[in-house]
Amino acid sequence: MTSRDFNVVTGSFGFTGAAIASRLLSLGRRVRTLTSHPDRLDHLGGKMEVAPLSFQDPDRLRESLIDATTLYNTYWVRFERGAATFGQAVENTRTLVKAAEEAGVQRLVHISITNPSAESPLPYFRGKALVEQAIGRSSLSHAIVRPTVIFGGGTILLNNIAWLLRHLPVFVIPGSGEYLLQPVSVDDVAELAVRGAHMENNVTVDAAGPETYTFNELVRLIADRVHSRARIIHLLPSLAHSLARALSLALRDVLITRDEIDGLMAALLVSKAAPTGESRFGDWLDQSASSIGTAYFSELDRHYR
Ligand SMILES: NC(=O)c1ccc[n+]([C@@H]2O[C@H](COP(=O)([O-])OP(=O)(O)OC[C@H]3O[C@@H](n4cnc5c(N)ncnc54)[C@H](OP(=O)(O)O)[C@@H]3O)[C@@H](O)[C@H]2O)c1
Repeated sequence: MTSRDFNVVTGSFGFTGAAIASRLLSLGRRVRTLTSHPDRLDHLGGKMEVAPLSFQDPDRLRESLIDATTLYNTYWVRFERGAATFGQAVENTRTLVKAAEEAGVQRLVHISITNPSAESPLPYFRGKALVEQAIGRSSLSHAIVRPTVIFGGGTILLNNIAWLLRHLPVFVIPGSGEYLLQPVSVDDVAELAVRGAHMENNVTVDAAGPETYTFNELVRLIADRVHSRARIIHLLPSLAHSLARALSLALRDVLITRDEIDGLMAALLVSKAAPTGESRFGDWLDQSASSIGTAYFSELDRHYR
């Protein structure tokens, strides 16, 4: 592949998409991003072309993919809100896959999640499995990268845990807190994605870091690094969710959904394979201790306003 390979990345003004685009630009590649927020601040210095992520206009979507060597897809929704349902996200991704086939895209790198399952009671994980199946049935040469929980500048979940620990007198852990997470760095996810673009075969790989924590350990570590004085307590998941809903109203956001609590407690954000990411969450936390959680990151501001 030449240095002028043309890459299309969905969501490069977001979190994972920005890391992938940044890596590609640093390799001298030409990058176009597809986004529903073309007016968003471009932290990558205006080096990308920008086009709409127009699921309602498949012809335009196909046009924007013509001549692309690789399509990196990060598109997904975190929870259902209004017309943005998981069913719609599956349909939208199918539309994107079809547009990529018709445009002659040479390789699709798709960002999924660890442990997707078509039988999962959790629509996020079920929808991810349905999308993987659609990609498997397509004619596209592909790599599927399945991250656990991603850390790095811009992480919503981990940042907001730190924000709560900094700003509230009590931090609530749903259930025992003994369920596991295996955080992976956003740069390692980007590296795995770019590597996946250059493989010959269709591959599926977990993106998981070298450290595994119980949720209790993770929260205590963040609390320690941000010098939190919050009391950490455990509550039944239903009670924890009720409190999160009340707090969400005050924050004008959705802090965490019941499905996300259930996903955390089911320990789905760990890999059964050997770690593929090298960066350690603990090291990143040490470096980010003075900034993480100083501002609240709103999912609704990012995607709905
Ligand atoms: N963050 C994690 O910890 C984590 C963990 C495991 C897997 N993943 C997966 O990694 C991928 C990227 O995640 P991310 O956290 O980096 O996401 P993100 O940057 O917030 O969003 C990625 C893309 O999805 C679009 N999008 C998000 N919510 C949307 C909504 N409600 N309506 C319409 N478009 C929406 C964004 O559109 P715009 O370009 O318009 O903003 C962007 O194209 C996703 O597939 C996610 O499932 C993430």
